[in-house]
Amino acid sequence: MGAVNVQVTFLPENKTVTVRKGTTLLAASRLAKVAIRTRCGGYAGCLMCKVVAEDSSGLSPAEEKERNKLGSSMAEGYRLACQAKAVGSAIVRVPEDPLKAAIRAQLARQQEEDLW
Ligand code: FES
Repeated sequence: MGAVNVQVTFLPENKTVTVRKGTTLLAASRLAKVAIRTRCGGYAGCLMCKVVAEDSSGLSPAEEKERNKLGSSMAEGYRLACQAKAVGSAIVRVPEDPLKAAIRAQLARQQEEDLW
């Protein structure tokens, strides 16, 4: 029997890649050329790789290490991309970089002021 492939879609860019079942979301994101920042190298240490599972049915259940790190944010659908594996087709949302979000909010405010 050959390897089973699954599809992972990354929002908001809406990029889909086909990967082998069991591939971590982080590895899949690299293939999809979706930027997920990391500092710990994928060892559940930095929490920078958090993504939101839009459809978690295709993801491996969180192991203790991941559960401990995420705590209550797991209830909001957060997963660590370096720990969660695609075991079926999955859709995840990559949160906006906080710095970019701050700049965007600032620009929007300025535009509003310019209207006056
Ligand atoms: S890459 Fe650091 S926690 Fe996932």
